[in-house]
Amino acid sequence: MAEAQKPHPDIERILIPEEDVRRRIQELAREISRDYAGRTPMLVGVLKGCILFLSELIKEIELDCSVDFICLASYTGTNSSGVVRMLLDLRDSAQGRDMLVIEDIVDTGLTIGYLMQNLQTRGPRTVEVCTLLDKPECRKIGIQPKYVGFRIPNDFVVGFGLDYNERYRNLPYIGVLKPSAIASRKGS
Ligand code: IMP
Repeated sequence: MAEAQKPHPDIERILIPEEDVRRRIQELAREISRDYAGRTPMLVGVLKGCILFLSELIKEIELDCSVDFICLASYTGTNSSGVVRMLLDLRDSAQGRDMLVIEDIVDTGLTIGYLMQNLQTRGPRTVEVCTLLDKPECRKIGIQPKYVGFRIPNDFVVGFGLDYNERYRNLPYIGVLKPSAIASRKGS
C-alpha cells in the first residue's frame, strides 16, 4: 500500500492529493482529445505556474499538438496587482490556430482576461482556456474557462507548479499554505 503523503512543514493541509491531481488531468486530456479530434491545437502554457500541469497533460493528449509558452506577471506575494505585464511572448504565429491556454489557476480572472484579449488580436481560429484550478469566488471579471480541473475555495494554495514568492512549485500535491508561512515571508 502507498505511504500517506507527508506535507511540507509550511503546508496547513493537503487540499488535493497527487493521485487525485493526476487522475483529473487524465480526464481533462481525454476530454481535450475528444473535442479537438482532427485538429492540431496549439497549447499555450502560461509560465511559470503551468509547468507541472502542462507536462502531465501533454503526455495524455492523444492528438498532434504544438506547445508554446508565454510568461505574464501580475502577482506580488499573495495579491493580484491587477496590472498584467508580458515578460515572454509566443515564438509561433497564432494565425488560424486552435489555441488552448494552459493555466495553473484562475483567481480574479484578470490575467486570463488580459491574455484572451491579447491572443484574439493575433487571428487565431479559436482560443479556449484549460486551468488546473478555479477559484470562482474571487472573480473580478466575467470569464469562465472551458476546462477546469478543480473548483476550490478562496484559500492561497501552492504546489504542482503553483508558488508563493517562487517557492513550493515542486510539491507534488496542492496544499493550503499556513498563514505563518505567508506572514514570515512577507517582503522577502
Ligand atoms: P488572476 O489574475 O487573479 O486570475 O491570477 C492568476 C495568476 O495568479 C495565476 O496564474 C497564479 O500565478 C496566481 N495565483 C492566483 N491565486 C493563486 C494561489 O492561490 N496560489 C498561487 N498562485 C496564485
